[in-house]
Amino acid sequence: MPKPHLLCWLRWAICVAAQFQGYAPFEDDQLTYTIRVPQGTANLSLGPIYFQLNSTRLVQWVALGQGAAMHGANMFVVYTSGDNVTLSPRAGKGHYQPLYNKYAQASLIAGSGVYEGAITANVRCDSCITWEGGTENPANPFSPWIWAVKYGKPLNTASMTATLREHDAFGTFFVNLLKATGADSDNPFIDLDRASITRAQTEIFDHEGFDKKRTAHAVLMTVAFVLLFPVFALALHIFPSGIVRVHATLQLLTLAVTIAGFGLGVAMAKDVYLLSHHHPIIGTVVVACLVLFQPGMGFLQHRHFRKTGGQGRFAYLHRWFGRIMIILGVINVGLGFQLTGVDSSAVPKGAAIAYGVVAGVIGLLYMVIISLSWRRQRTASDSN
Ligand code: HEM
Ligand code: HEM
Ligand SMILES: *[C@@H]1O[C@H](CO)[C@@H](O)[C@H](O)[C@H]1NC(C)=O
Ligand SMILES: *[C@@H]1O[C@H](CO)[C@@H](O)[C@H](O)[C@H]1NC(C)=O
Ligand SMILES: *[C@@H]1O[C@H](CO)[C@@H](O)[C@H](O)[C@H]1NC(C)=O
Repeated sequence: MPKPHLLCWLRWAICVAAQFQGYAPFEDDQLTYTIRVPQGTANLSLGPIYFQLNSTRLVQWVALGQGAAMHGANMFVVYTSGDNVTLSPRAGKGHYQPLYNKYAQASLIAGSGVYEGAITANVRCDSCITWEGGTENPANPFSPWIWAVKYGKPLNTASMTATLREHDAFGTFFVNLLKATGADSDNPFIDLDRASITRAQTEIFDHEGFDKKRTAHAVLMTVAFVLLFPVFALALHIFPSGIVRVHATLQLLTLAVTIAGFGLGVAMAKDVYLLSHHHPIIGTVVVACLVLFQPGMGFLQHRHFRKTGGQGRFAYLHRWFGRIMIILGVINVGLGFQLTGVDSSAVPKGAAIAYGVVAGVIGLLYMVIISLSWRRQRTASDSN
């Protein structure tokens, strides 16, 4: 079993058990597809993947393929051989019969056969991560696959090059390969626990909505951590005393901005099932810590100051905890850029460099202002 991630437990208890993705085109038992990526293959982006085709209806052929359409798809067609089933790897070239693909490395494994009218093909594929003309990224949460079925008289041939007639039904679905990942096994379909199969999706991923969320999330978090938090912290040093109330109010507003950004982040992570990356983990920790501790420590220091006129324990805690969280937040914005992909259209290299420069300049300014204010305080106390 994959190690359950804390956030998994909190939000999607189901992801602990998810080790297979399944798809039933007719929403019933007559035709089911099940896909499994072994953990070792996921780790290395290299190795076998497994899938099952299972039809309880008499079919001439039934097929599964990697790709969004026939053209370019890495296909696997299954039909009866007489006493068992034949697995025929095919390469899709267009809207005509896909031809036998001699480069494919795929084989039937135990459990395959025709049992009481049900055709089952359990397949181990060693050319499904990289194949002639394509690749699969095992971390892709929206991997497109195609399926098709032709009803009628069984073909009953062991020939892998049998002539196929056009399908009666076909379609595309999207496999979350992260949810199809589970422990290494030579045959994951032996004693298959149907409860560990999660449904593949049919609706097309809303890229536009996702892009909007991502942009808003990035803008809110960048502005909050690189600009607002540091500036409102420095306000205490730039302006004379009496400003704590302003600092508190403005920081609480900025905190609200980061909570909004966090909500968008969680929505995105849910869309693409990416909660266990460093970026969402660090982000969650920083936002949770800021909400839970920072205002409290600030208020406690403020109360202490009103009573004694001095700095208590909480002043140091609040100051250093605040500084560390701001720095973590700034780093995490960079990790977010990395997650989206530096040098992609969403994060051009120039934008990432500009971000680094701006964050660096603000960090330097912060240190200069702090040390100036510290020196001013020291000379003030020296002259007393
Ligand atoms: C004898 C073999 C085949 C023939 C003659 C054939 C022919 C066609 C034709 C004419 C279309 C367009 C249909 C339309 O738009 O209404 C089509 C679409 C499609 N076929 Fe096939 N097909 C064959 C095998 C397969 C196999 C084996 C698969 C699955 C592995 C498949 C999956 C699809 C899918 C998903 C589409 C819709 C996406 C696209 O346009 O490519 N077909 N096929
Ligand atoms: C999450 C929001 C907040 C953040 C990120 C934050 C951050 C900071 C930082 C970094 C400093 C130290 C500035 C420096 O010397 O580098 C500071 C000082 C201070 N903050 Fe906040 N702050 C927040 C909210 C609050 C709130 C709600 C109060 C409530 C009154 C507060 C009260 C203070 C006080 C009294 C100081 C001066 C402590 C001292 O004497 O050194 N802060 N804050
Ligand atoms: C194929 O599907 C039928 C109907 O859901 C099921 O009873 C059977 O166990 C499945 N075969 C395998 C090998 O899972
Ligand atoms: C895959 O990587 C994870 C950590 O990244 C590790 O815990 C696991 O043992 C690895 N599994 C295999 C089969 O290589
Ligand atoms: C069908 O062939 C596969 C692969 O060779 C084998 O593992 C399986 O036991 C066979 N099934 C039957 C019912 O003979």
